[in-house]
Amino acid sequence: MKTHLLEKARIYEQSTRISVPAYDTLFAMAQAYFRAHLGEQETSLLVVGAGGGNELSAWGPSNPSWTFTGIDPSEEMLQIAQYKAQQLAIESRVQLLQGTIDTLPSSPLTYDAASCILVLHFMEDRQQKLNLLHNIHEQLKPGKPFVLACAYGDRNSDELQDRIKIWQSFFLEAGYKKAKVEDMGQVIMNISFLSDQDIQELLKEAGFKQITRFFSSGLFAGWMSHA
Ligand SMILES: C[S@@+](CC[C@H](N)C(=O)[O-])C[C@H]1O[C@@H](n2cnc3c(N)ncnc32)[C@H](O)[C@@H]1O
Repeated sequence: MKTHLLEKARIYEQSTRISVPAYDTLFAMAQAYFRAHLGEQETSLLVVGAGGGNELSAWGPSNPSWTFTGIDPSEEMLQIAQYKAQQLAIESRVQLLQGTIDTLPSSPLTYDAASCILVLHFMEDRQQKLNLLHNIHEQLKPGKPFVLACAYGDRNSDELQDRIKIWQSFFLEAGYKKAKVEDMGQVIMNISFLSDQDIQELLKEAGFKQITRFFSSGLFAGWMSHA
């Protein structure tokens, strides 16, 4: 892989773990949830937002009966994921596709499990988010598990403003310069926040059931549910 991509991968790995404390625990909990529902059976997992390859490294080596279909619009992020799959020697169980879920070539009811981690807050409006979740629901076999994780909060609340300050302090504690962290604060304000309640409502509208919030860390939270 080209040097600038290796560097980008390194920075992404590092900064995500500052941005989302307990990021690795999120993946360990999601894996436990999938295993609890799927056991040892062969599992086809749909990874929406598979760029960077963190789902592959967290779940690939430890679950030899799982196959992965990863979709992501970013060519660079997919190249990093492909590189990780090669390094982990799991390429034969991984298919990576550039695009969004609307362009997925598989038929409905294909997958045994799905994840969408740190993607939803990049989608501008509620309808776009609902379409994404609805399309994921369509791809899952009935009753199968889905893990969603994204930023959450009520944009106009003091509570969210407070959590953004705390999120900035995670980076200051990690040694980032104050000016950079201030710029990052502006950027984070522009992502699309929805409250926990609105996100659970969206999941319901998209057809998901038994919705449980299982994870919360700074600006982000995770929900388990069933198709
Ligand atoms: C912060 S990264 C998260 C990647 C990975 N899930 C993780 O946790 O490391 C967000 C990813 O979502 C991708 N993305 C943005 N919009 C998307 C969409 N509509 N469908 C799928 N992926 C999308 C971006 O290209 C990027 O690779």
